[in-house]
Formats: sequence, C-alpha cells, structure tokens
Amino acid sequence: MHERYIELFRQYLGLLFSLHLGAVITLGAILGLFILTSVVLHVLIRRRGLPPKSMAFVKWLFLAFLIEAADRLVLSGLDQALVHTPLILLKTLVYWLLIKSFIDGVYSDIYLQRIKHKEVNHFLLDVIKFGIFILVVVSAAKSIFDIKLSSLITSSAILTAIIGFSMQDTIGSIISGFLIQMEKPFGVGEWISVDGLTGKVAEISWRYTKIQTVQRDSIYIPNNSISKHNLVNYDRPLPQKRCRVRVGAPCDVPPVRVKAALEEALKRCPLVARFPPSFVRIKSIGSYKVVYEIFFSAPRFEDQWAAMDQVQSSVWHHFKKYGVPLPYPRSEIHMARRVKQEEPDYLPILRSIELFSGLTDADLLLLVQSSAFLEYPAGARIVRSGEQDTSLFVILAGTVSVQRDGSVLAELEPGGFFGEMALLTGDPRRADVVAKTGAACLVVDREAFKMLLESNPRVVENIRECFRQRAETPPGRNGLNPQENASHRWFERFRSIFS
Ligand code: CMP
Repeated sequence: MHERYIELFRQYLGLLFSLHLGAVITLGAILGLFILTSVVLHVLIRRRGLPPKSMAFVKWLFLAFLIEAADRLVLSGLDQALVHTPLILLKTLVYWLLIKSFIDGVYSDIYLQRIKHKEVNHFLLDVIKFGIFILVVVSAAKSIFDIKLSSLITSSAILTAIIGFSMQDTIGSIISGFLIQMEKPFGVGEWISVDGLTGKVAEISWRYTKIQTVQRDSIYIPNNSISKHNLVNYDRPLPQKRCRVRVGAPCDVPPVRVKAALEEALKRCPLVARFPPSFVRIKSIGSYKVVYEIFFSAPRFEDQWAAMDQVQSSVWHHFKKYGVPLPYPRSEIHMARRVKQEEPDYLPILRSIELFSGLTDADLLLLVQSSAFLEYPAGARIVRSGEQDTSLFVILAGTVSVQRDGSVLAELEPGGFFGEMALLTGDPRRADVVAKTGAACLVVDREAFKMLLESNPRVVENIRECFRQRAETPPGRNGLNPQENASHRWFERFRSIFS
C-alpha cells in the first residue's frame, strides 16, 4: 500500500518537472490572481463594510472559474490518470464552498435579511445545506471510485439502519427539532413551560431547545421530550400574563371602601397593563376577614413577579390612605352597656335627598353601614367621563363641579348626588366630576343599592322621578345625546339590571 503512494508521489514530482513552462506560468498566474482577489475582497470588506458572507461567494465563484479555465487550458493536456482524482476533489471542495456561500451570503444575508427583511430560519438552511453536501459528496465518490448508485444506496441503507437503531433518541430529537421549526409553536425569546420546566427560549438547535429559567439557569430540553409533553407558550396569543393577588380586609369595612382602595392602588402601578382591564372581586367571607382577589395583567411573563410586588405594596399604602386596617384574628367581648361609636351623623343629609325620600332611618343606617366615606382634596377628579364604574356619590361636604368637554354643566353642594346614571343604567360615565373645594362623599355601590331596593320598593318610584327630572334638563346640558334623552328608556335599563 505504502509503495503505491510513494510511487504516485514520484510520478507527481516527475509531472511537475516535465510540465511545459507555459503551463507552469498559467497555473502560477491563476494562483496569484486568486490570492490577489482574496486580498482585495478582504480590504473591501474592512474598509467599505461589504457583507463578508456575500464576498466569500464572489471569491469562490472566481476560484471555480479559474479551476475550470485551468482544466480546459492546461490540465486537459496532461495524463488524466494522474490529474483526475485531485481535480475532482478540488472541484468538489470549491463547488461546495461556492454553494454554501451562496446560501449563507446571497440568499440568506442579502435576499432574506437585507431585501425582504425577513427572519432567517437557520435550521431550515442547515437542512438544505446538509442535503446538498451529501449530494456533492456522493457524486464525487461516484466519479472517483466509479461506484454504482444502487449499491451505494443499499450499503447506506444498511448503515442508516444500524446508526438509526443505536441513535434512536438523537434522531427522534432531530426530527422533533425539524417539526418545531416547521410548526413554530414557540420562538427564541418566548416563555414556555414543558414538563414542569419553565424558562425563556434562548436557542433552538437540531437536538435540543435551550431555555433560561428565572434563576438564570440554562436547561437543555431534548426536542423529542418537547413533542411528548404538554407545551405551554406564555407569549401567545398575547404576551401579557394574567396575575392574581389575594388580600384580606376586616369584615366590618364595607366592600365598596375596600374595592375603592384596591382599584386606586391598581391605577398607581406602572407594571399593571391597561389591557385586558383589571378587576377586583370578593373571594370569600370568613370569621374575621373578607378575602378579595385582584386580577390584573403584567405586560410580559417576566414582569409578573415585579408587578405582583408593586400591586401588594401599593395596596398596603392605599389601605392606610382609605382607612382599611389589615385583618387579624380577634375575639370580641360584648359588654352589657353599649358604647356609642363616634361617627359623623349622615342621616339628616340622606333624609333630604329626593332619591331616598320615604326611606326609614333603619334603611338609611343600613345604607351608611354598607357604604364608604371618602374624602377628596380640591381639584381631585372623582369621576371620569367614559369610565365603567357603578358607584353613586352623595355629597356630604364641599362643592363638586360636573364638567363635560371642559365646560361646567352643574355645581353640586352637600345633599346633592352624582354618578346615579352609571349605577342605575350600567352605561359609562357621561361627565367628569371634579372636587371644586375639599369634598367628602358617601360612596354607595350597586350591591348596597340593591339591598335598599329590596328593603323598600318606594325607591323605584324615586328613581323614575329622578330620571324624569334628568330628561327635562335641556339637551346637551345633561351630558346625554338628545335621542337618548328619554327617561323611560333609562328606566327600562335600570329594571333589566336590578330586577
Ligand atoms: P354618571 O353618568 O354616572 O357620571 C357622571 C355624572 O354627572 C352623571 O352620572 C350625573 O350624576 C352627573 N351629571 C351629568 N349631567 C349633569 C347635569 N346637567 N346636572 C347635574 N349632574 C349631572
């Protein structure tokens, strides 16, 4: 065997010396031209910032041209038994580099990225390159060793079967990786969860998908494990993450006050997404506390923990501001003599309000107990036009100004009320209400109002009268559309909500 190689080497040396001088010069010139082109391209890439991958294509194209020229001009005149194999090997290598640089440079870098501005599917390009590489190698082997394609296929099928059997898992992962690339159930940068492992996708390769957990650990999940388990993609269809926070408040604080504090707390959190809207609901009522659930959305999956922290901190401060103590287990000792609680007496004001006329003091007291007493500094916007809120405000102190599009519709004093339209009809707020001076209001929510309706049917008649008076306000002054301005329609809507 060794002698054969030594003999071949001798023959090449002999060939080199026996070559015609013109042929040697031609080959030298070709080599020199190739080196010169490479240097020029290198300088252009550095100085002009030309794309290196596409320049590589130009370089290999030029070399392919030189080899073809050399083949026809010089090498065809030499002994083919000596030249054939090295020439095929050289051509295979150069054509493969040419095709590869075409795919990476011209197609992917220039056409897809720079012209079409599309994201490149590297996995698919790798598959295509791999396929072409196999074809190039097989055709080179066929022409060097003169192998029949059918025998090559048979032997490669046996080889594939052996390899396939011993690498079942790896091949399964590669096929799954291929399917992931085709179906795209997730992409790089998205948050996913597979078989209890949660993280941000950092890389998708042939065999595995790399995710980075919240603790910054990297986990390599084999692609076939992803296709076997349930996959959750937190970024689709929307990147927002729905969050839930539970807080407790003492049973004796009316829900309307707690909810007002919670809603205000949510508005103060920059990490709470405006859409989908947040809401608060009562989860349970226990022996000493009412548990409230706050539902809100963080803008992205990874913001959820910071958003929850922000919401809970804000809730703590707003509970202080709204006078909602934190609940704690306690036992009460009832003394025989009742101590009268020091509480402002709202009853005279409530009695003077037409909407509540005919109600007994017991009804009004129940209303006070299930409502919230809130204070507003001068200039505070108590109600905002367009908001979907359903509380009724009874003015206990101060003056408020009802405004629409910057013009004042009315100014209301203690004993007046506002917000009844949204409470009774379920429509969005029709005007802004701003505290003109420091103001205090009793805030009645829909539940408390419902209770009032059930305990005294007289309120229904008061509402009908209230709507009639509103409808009589000149169109435009009441903040309503003239065609909508029909008291019976509001009354029908009220009936559908409260019946
Ligand atoms: P609502 O639509 O729930 O919220 C804004 C409130 O402003 C509205 O209910 C009424 O209570 C009040 N409002 C609207 N127009 C007038 C008006 N012309 N005079 C007095 N109050 C008004």
